[in-house]
Amino acid sequence: MRVLVITGAGVSAESGIPTFRGKDGYWRNFDPAKLATPEAFARDPELVWEWYRERRQRIRNAQPNAAHAAIAKLAQHADEFLLVTQNVDDLHARAGLAKQNMVQIHGDIFVTKCSRCDFRRRDYEQEQRDVVPKCPECDALMRPGVVWFGEQLTWDELQRIESYLDRGPCDLVIVAGTTATFGYIIDWALRANRHGGGLIEVNPEETPLSQFATRLVREPAAVALALLVNQLIEL
Ligand code: OAD
Repeated sequence: MRVLVITGAGVSAESGIPTFRGKDGYWRNFDPAKLATPEAFARDPELVWEWYRERRQRIRNAQPNAAHAAIAKLAQHADEFLLVTQNVDDLHARAGLAKQNMVQIHGDIFVTKCSRCDFRRRDYEQEQRDVVPKCPECDALMRPGVVWFGEQLTWDELQRIESYLDRGPCDLVIVAGTTATFGYIIDWALRANRHGGGLIEVNPEETPLSQFATRLVREPAAVALALLVNQLIEL
């Protein structure tokens, strides 16, 4: 089995991490889609950092759920496996999925990087001292090491996805817990499923991807993925 799984915020929802869109997505009346932008950071870096610090703390206190565990289990049973996640949390990794089987296309929330030079660190302790940390190399403001709206995806991460897709079609594609807002999500899912192996969407709501799915599972990811993966492994 050659498998591609694509996940979004809905997969971490049952771990208590709010999704971006929908009623739980708002933070202090701010729309996350407007806070996760270079413009918001330029206008009010303190506010953006406050939001990211709170999210980091929430993620540290959270535990992977049955959906993360099911995906890690599926990876162990597949001959070839890649997870492409839009989530910046570390719950897939903490559920046991190996780094080489995963691409975090929107980055890692625990990385802090300079807004000007190449300086970047994971779990950078120094930043705790200042509301808005400054770069030790060039003194510019530091920012969370994630991809914001309107920014390019990282070339290296994109290449990993491209080379996985180029190596051949998948026998199974699962897309779970994402509004599939970005065209590249749909594009990757369709390219992976180009020989019609099967494209399963796990999401309580309809999305732009639903029309292309060969199977729709309209249930929360933790319940649905645990069942689905057990069925697939038995097969
Ligand atoms: P969204 O918040 O846009 O969508 C969450 C999706 O999860 C929705 O389709 C929900 O129906 C679904 N959902 C909610 N609870 C669920 C559950 N328990 N099980 C399964 N599905 C559930 O999040 P994303 O699609 O991940 O990007 O958003 C994509 C990107 O937009 C994010 O990575 C972020 C955001 O802005 C950037 O910051 C660049």
